[in-house]
Amino acid sequence: MKKIVIEGGKSLRGIVKISGAKNAALPAIAACILTGGRQKIHRIPSLRDIMTIKAIMSSMGAVFQDNNDNSLSVNTENIFEHEASYDLVKTMRASILLLGPLLARLGKARISLPGGCAIGARPVNLHLKALSAMGVDMHLEHGYINAEVKRLKGANVFFDTPTVTGTENIMMAAVTAEGRTVLNNAAKEPEIIDLADMLRKMGAEIKGDGTDTIIVEGVKELRPAEHAIIPDRIEAGTFMIASAMTQGDITIQDCRPDHLYAVIEKLRSVGAEIEHTEDIIHIKGPKIINSADITTMPFPGFPTDLQAQFMTLMCIANGSSIIEETIFENRFIHVSELERMGADITINVNQALVRGREKLLAAPVMATDLRASASLILAGLVAVDGKTEVNRIYHLDRGYEALEEKFRALGANIRREDA
Ligand code: EPU
Repeated sequence: MKKIVIEGGKSLRGIVKISGAKNAALPAIAACILTGGRQKIHRIPSLRDIMTIKAIMSSMGAVFQDNNDNSLSVNTENIFEHEASYDLVKTMRASILLLGPLLARLGKARISLPGGCAIGARPVNLHLKALSAMGVDMHLEHGYINAEVKRLKGANVFFDTPTVTGTENIMMAAVTAEGRTVLNNAAKEPEIIDLADMLRKMGAEIKGDGTDTIIVEGVKELRPAEHAIIPDRIEAGTFMIASAMTQGDITIQDCRPDHLYAVIEKLRSVGAEIEHTEDIIHIKGPKIINSADITTMPFPGFPTDLQAQFMTLMCIANGSSIIEETIFENRFIHVSELERMGADITINVNQALVRGREKLLAAPVMATDLRASASLILAGLVAVDGKTEVNRIYHLDRGYEALEEKFRALGANIRREDA
């Protein structure tokens, strides 16, 4: 077990390059099941979640080759197994993304039902309801979803609430289904558009991605393609918040400011100076951080995946702020750890009242989820009076590529040690 040790107080300066988006890479890799043959996906981040989906798909017959230019070659000629076991699915809920592609390719799938996780119950009922509407026969047995279908049929699908992986799963199921599928109240996240772009390169007919109505006309078959994943907007947002917290002056390269407008506006309102081109953001942190409220929303609103990091910024703001979480019911687990560092936060159901303090104090802390870990690292970057130790960093390694190395290159005093 490793931990991350930080001596706070350094102002971050320099250039950082953003990696490919975890949440776009996972569905892109799953989409390779839809056709046999060799595909190539560029800008694959080196992360534990990526290793997990590769391990599950390898057990199904996929063959992967990591190339030294961050690209991944995928050969899915020979997919013979349709089961994703509890042992692997329990470590990564996104394994549910294999359900749609397996049904499209093999007409059957057996996937362990992901349980709840640290941030909430996270049901997959909307994925299952939509697949039923497409003709899939489904039953739950011993904790597994057993699904079978002769030929997927296009359907008019309505999501009660926009679901990111649900929209991705149904888009993948629909591309070779018989007839037209309409996804109503679909998620609009950039990762959805990226998947649709890849599927179109493979020959799919998809329109409306990026809006709440996506129309997929089923085609007979797909062909292998080559695709580059979009940059990780949550990683970029995390570095922006780090610069805002540390009176930093950093240039974020290889990013997509158009995926981050809600975050850019919010950080401007707290006093950060931000300029951007199409793929570069330059951000200077203010001397005094103004307080600002946020409410997490589906895209293009403020992302839930940056809520914990923004809360850490508000812990040292001048004044009080209200952070409202509307996507997940239990996404305030970082609060009790931030309190151990001197933060003043009161939770009322899904709202947190954060009273800004002049400083945070270094302390040993531990995280129970990926984005909570990032928020504790940010807290460590500004904490004074000693060393902050962030434990259980395997959460961090699920979704941030070389985070401490990137922070170190910006001047932070941060290192990984044996716990
Ligand atoms: N929901 C249902 N039923 C469903 C599916 C979702 O009620 O069948 C609810 C959820 O409980 C939640 C809301 O719908 O309240 C939205 O959840 P969504 O399905 O959009 O979340 P997800 O697809 O499971 C993805 C990301 C998450 C990110 C959320 C929201 C991936 C692999 N994961 O999860 O990323 O927080 O969308 O943007 O794309 C992370 O990277 O740290 C992370 C948790």
